[in-house]
Amino acid sequence: MKEKLNQIREEALAAISAENADLEQIRIKYLGKKGELTAVLRGMGALSAEERPIIGQIANEVRTEIENSLSSATQALKEKELQKKLIEEKIDVTMPAADIKVGKLHPLTQIQRRIEEIFIGMGFSIAEGPEVELDYYNFQALNIPENHPARDTQDTFYITENILLRSQTSPVQVRTMEKQKPPIRIISPGRVYRSDAVDATHSPLFHQVEGLVVDKGITMGDLKGMLETFAKTLFGDETRLRFRPHHFPFTEPSAEVDVSCFVCGGKGCRVCKNEGWIEILGAGMVHPFVLSNCGIDPEVYSGFAFGVGIERVAMTKYGIDDMRLLYENDMRFLEQF
Ligand code: PHE
Repeated sequence: MKEKLNQIREEALAAISAENADLEQIRIKYLGKKGELTAVLRGMGALSAEERPIIGQIANEVRTEIENSLSSATQALKEKELQKKLIEEKIDVTMPAADIKVGKLHPLTQIQRRIEEIFIGMGFSIAEGPEVELDYYNFQALNIPENHPARDTQDTFYITENILLRSQTSPVQVRTMEKQKPPIRIISPGRVYRSDAVDATHSPLFHQVEGLVVDKGITMGDLKGMLETFAKTLFGDETRLRFRPHHFPFTEPSAEVDVSCFVCGGKGCRVCKNEGWIEILGAGMVHPFVLSNCGIDPEVYSGFAFGVGIERVAMTKYGIDDMRLLYENDMRFLEQF
């Protein structure tokens, strides 16, 4: 029996120290319920009373030795796996980091902020007005009574007969003059709505920046000078302005204002559609009717107003030929600005 135990010991220890030993399999083979060592221990009943304790002691020693050997082999294996992991998963801190995607402002927001900056630099402050507006502010107070043909060109979305989505930022002129007495110098950027079908140059939702200056002795010369400063700052020093006579019910005289094409300088190109000029805003001297409607005496005060199309400016400045691109949120497009 002694020999049998020694043999088990040697075999087991050799198996454990072999390369790629399956340690759990070895444990089962020798120490398990049906294992070889267990079988020997079962046979001990057949031994004599003298032999039994001696063999029992050896058997225990063999068991302990195999157990110890198994546990240090297990430990060593774990250690080896850890080392392997540490090497394989080593992080090279000198490697350049993966790109982080940083968002940026939408081109329309960029242009709006730029326009705001320019006017704030000229002493204007920013006024706000509601997008859901009363018919009174959007039309009547601006000298556009019911059935006036100007309503046709600014057909909008009605909530009730008297409440609508504003078709222009001009109602903010009236709201400002009602609250504030001259001198007034404000701009008001925001969304406006018209029931236009979507195409390359129309959208039912777009953006304007309204401007209003009211004080004693304000003339058309002030309007022209201020708009020229604005256009040169935004499009470059060579920019020229062209005032075309126009009609708005709430300004008199009125003009549509074009800037010389900043791409071709006025010769004609794709961006200006061979015109040499690009229309970007409507403007004029505030109509006496509007002033007195707001409690401002037109005999004492005068003023000018203008409305810039933000989409127009963005498309002109960036050479965008289809307005829909501005609303589709395609990253490939937006990333360019
Ligand atoms: N509100 C006008 C429009 O939307 C533009 C404008 C504003 C014209 C101020 C004159 C003065 O067409």
